[in-house]
Amino acid sequence: MASHRAQRPSTPTEPMAANNNLDLHAEMERIARAVDQQFDQLLEIPDDPRSALYKAMRHAAIGGGKRVRPLLVMATANLFNVDENSSIRAATAVEALHVYSLIHDDLPCMDDDDLRRGKPTTHIVYGEATAVLAGDALHAMAFELLTDEQSHHDPFVRAEMASCLAKAAGPSGMAGGQMMDLAAEETTFDLQTVTRLQQLKTGALLVACVEIGAILGRVSPEGRIGLRGYAHDVGLAFQIADDILDVEGDEEKAGKALHKDAAAGKETFLSLMGLERAREQAQMLVDQAKSHLSNYGQEANLLRAIAEYIVERDR
Ligand code: IPE
Ligand code: IPE
Ligand code: MG
Ligand code: MG
Ligand code: MG
Repeated sequence: MASHRAQRPSTPTEPMAANNNLDLHAEMERIARAVDQQFDQLLEIPDDPRSALYKAMRHAAIGGGKRVRPLLVMATANLFNVDENSSIRAATAVEALHVYSLIHDDLPCMDDDDLRRGKPTTHIVYGEATAVLAGDALHAMAFELLTDEQSHHDPFVRAEMASCLAKAAGPSGMAGGQMMDLAAEETTFDLQTVTRLQQLKTGALLVACVEIGAILGRVSPEGRIGLRGYAHDVGLAFQIADDILDVEGDEEKAGKALHKDAAAGKETFLSLMGLERAREQAQMLVDQAKSHLSNYGQEANLLRAIAEYIVERDR
């Protein structure tokens, strides 16, 4: 099926960064293609009354998006030479969970958005009821993928990945953060509460990506501490960048409606810190994220480049 492809990050100019970012750029392209291919195979449209559900899932999942979460899974798994068949399936699972969250986030009862990844949102094209089901089905598909024998031969690894994603998506993770985000429209949160909100809403899933890569690499929970620290800082920096983009970004590039946070009366990192401090804070978090990788050599350069990209991105 032909699908819309969103633009990848532009080629940078500075020579040293160019090398790093060129690798990043190539890897983003490669992983985006692989994820699209996985969804394409998993979501063959049946010739029966479920076809609209599959079409809606394909609309939301295939083509577009930065694929930052799959990239984090793959870059971490590659540190430990994990078989790519396993890591790409786990990466697709996390992206499926993320896409579900976007479909539901855009619904009229939540953010009521018409544009996502440069395309009309799923409920605009397929109607609200089908969009809710497409989200439900992608959510279920994530766990089906993680627990499928083809994703890893060891049932303990499969169970640990599923448990990790479940915690990151539930009330102590993304869903809890979304609840706080709704409450933010009615209440004024301080910086500490906004930080907690963002850690749950966005950070938890990004941490889970790195953790799933490490689980595939059979890294012990103690051995994951540095990687978790990296992901924690990347998650916060990611959200500060999202808040900055919401104020200063270009809707065309972002492929979604911007200027929504202030309009909804929500406190964000930006409203609480101001633009300059928010930028400094994001850069400090990137540096701190990279310092958590000091036990790793060149093999972690992709993770370092991802941390830099997270705050430099324009979409
Ligand atoms: C958007 O996530 C929603 C947030 C958690 C801020 P992304 O910025 O990763 O969106 P896509 O996947 O690239 O479309
Ligand atoms: C959405 O946050 C986060 C999740 C879907 C969990 P936002 O509402 O800020 O994301 P955008 O700005 O619509 O992408
Ligand atoms: Mg929202
Ligand atoms: Mg939204
Ligand atoms: Mg936002």
